[in-house]
Amino acid sequence: MTTPEPGPGRELHESNRRSWNAATVAHNSHKKDQAGFLRRGGSTLFPEEVELLGDLQGKRLVHLLCNSGQDTLSLAARGATVTGVDISDEAIDFAKNLSADSGIPATFHRADVYDWLDTASDRDEQFDIAFCSYGAICWLFDLGLWSSGMANVLVPGGRFVTVGFHPASMMFNERFELAYPYFGGGKPLVWEDGVGDYVAQAGAALAPSGFAEGVRDFSNPHPVSEFQWSISEIIQALLAARFIIERFDEYPYANGAKLFDNMREAPGKRMWPPDDVPSVPLMYSIVARIACN
Ligand SMILES: C[S@@+](CC[C@H](N)C(=O)[O-])C[C@H]1O[C@@H](n2cnc3c(N)ncnc32)[C@H](O)[C@@H]1O
Repeated sequence: MTTPEPGPGRELHESNRRSWNAATVAHNSHKKDQAGFLRRGGSTLFPEEVELLGDLQGKRLVHLLCNSGQDTLSLAARGATVTGVDISDEAIDFAKNLSADSGIPATFHRADVYDWLDTASDRDEQFDIAFCSYGAICWLFDLGLWSSGMANVLVPGGRFVTVGFHPASMMFNERFELAYPYFGGGKPLVWEDGVGDYVAQAGAALAPSGFAEGVRDFSNPHPVSEFQWSISEIIQALLAARFIIERFDEYPYANGAKLFDNMREAPGKRMWPPDDVPSVPLMYSIVARIACN
């Protein structure tokens, strides 16, 4: 893999880092005693990823774009040896403290995912599983570099597993009106108001350890840029890096996140569109295995 040169994509990642640093403080301010929750056996994972990942006992797993490490530590509690990688200083500092305070061991690296994949491959680090979820792939400006980077750090037969918000769901504004293109053409979508406080919006659904009022009326001073990759672009990037797609699923609900106004919360923190809205895929998942030569 070649590290992408400094350039427009890289600059976007740096402004995203500032935006995520600010938002992460607000997000964690709403989550009560996360260390105690994890220590008592609590998990922040949803059934979809638990099922797709399968038995993690003894597996080496890298969690890419891991944010503050709650899911990473929940994966470690299922028996995996975990490494979490995220560009946000605030998120990784929080994750390291959460690991120490919960007593769940994990390794965390603050790095741009492209840099980390590059250096991990140089060091011959190898993993059985690469995992990312819920709002991860949209931050990457080059899917080919990302998938080839993952292929380099997976053992032969190793798996990539993801569950995330479906790009089709990103075509709608909060009133569920068709507002954005499905095909982003690799161009960044810039949001001047930065990463928002979606944890405050979702309430208990994204705060399984308990919801606290925390930061009020959060306003992010740092703009953010994301990419609207279509499902076919994601799959093509994996195929080009010699992944074999083993499973692809789409879901009519979104886990935890109230993506639109008036979403209905069903058991399991599944958010469904209002009854009068025709179904659209709100999440998707992929399991892909790297070919064994
Ligand atoms: C929506 S969060 C992912 C949350 C994740 N599902 C979890 O386990 O909590 C997106 C994360 O991507 C990170 N991120 C964005 N761009 C990145 C990059 N280029 N390299 C590494 N991390 C990045 C952000 O800092 C943020 O923590």
